[in-house]
Amino acid sequence: KTVYFNGSFMDKEAVSISPDDRGFLFADGLYEVIRSYQGVLFRPKDHIARLSHGARHLKLSRTDFSEFVQIAQVLLEKNGLLSGDATVYFQVTRGEATRSHAFPLNTPEPTVYAFASKFDALNGEKIKAQGINAITVADQRWARCDMKTTALTANVLANQAAVEQNAKEAIFIRDGVLLEGTHSNFMAVMDNVLVTAPLSNYILGGITRKVIVEFCERENIPLEFGPIFEKDVPSVQEMMVVGTTLEITPIVKLNHSPIGDGRPGRITKKLQALLKGEIE
Ligand code: PDD
Repeated sequence: KTVYFNGSFMDKEAVSISPDDRGFLFADGLYEVIRSYQGVLFRPKDHIARLSHGARHLKLSRTDFSEFVQIAQVLLEKNGLLSGDATVYFQVTRGEATRSHAFPLNTPEPTVYAFASKFDALNGEKIKAQGINAITVADQRWARCDMKTTALTANVLANQAAVEQNAKEAIFIRDGVLLEGTHSNFMAVMDNVLVTAPLSNYILGGITRKVIVEFCERENIPLEFGPIFEKDVPSVQEMMVVGTTLEITPIVKLNHSPIGDGRPGRITKKLQALLKGEIE
């Protein structure tokens, strides 16, 4: 497997990352996951822009990642992933330095690692058609969820709780509001209006979410940015999680209770079709 590490393409086995890397010691870093369809990257520039946003706020010494688009493309090529679905993962950390919380005095080069993997499209199609079970969990994350940092402990625990309850995703609840999933944004249909949390420090500004907002404007699908309260869940018509890996996946059961008629809803299916059109 050919990966990218600090400026070079190499065999994965040849990568060596210092145990003093701040990514390892502090999770002091950022990541991105970009999808590709038949060798074509989906909205790569939006992912790079989000990475730059995070890097500016983390005060990394590097904030321009425009060359990552080309790197992603080479990784797909070198790993035989120009046909079918794939994802490209990027991680950037503050770099290697003797452990101390504040930034190192001699600014290290950020560590950059990237790899491409085949995406299990068959399973993806199945869950998009059938929908998934989801659970809700208390949001125990920090208050800067707009940055895609590698510090994912709360997300890991929440997703594991979902798996243990035979569900695929957990939706974080803060102050009675369903905000987003552990690796996806969250949307619901209420009174025939698509509702999703407004952009804030409490959610990640998802690229898929952004694309869906564009669809709604273009196709006159009623959309509202606002809270989806836990207390209103019983009257929700449709629910979905959206993201690079889940694309647009219906939630048909939340906390073991069916949503709507327990099947993927009309607006969800319409959005799925629009996204499909964008990819082909
Ligand atoms: N996760 N919210 C969170 C917390 C996420 O981790 C993600 C993506 C999203 C959706 O964003 P986008 O549409 O840009 O993928 C929302 C990636 C896929 C992951 O962690 O694997």
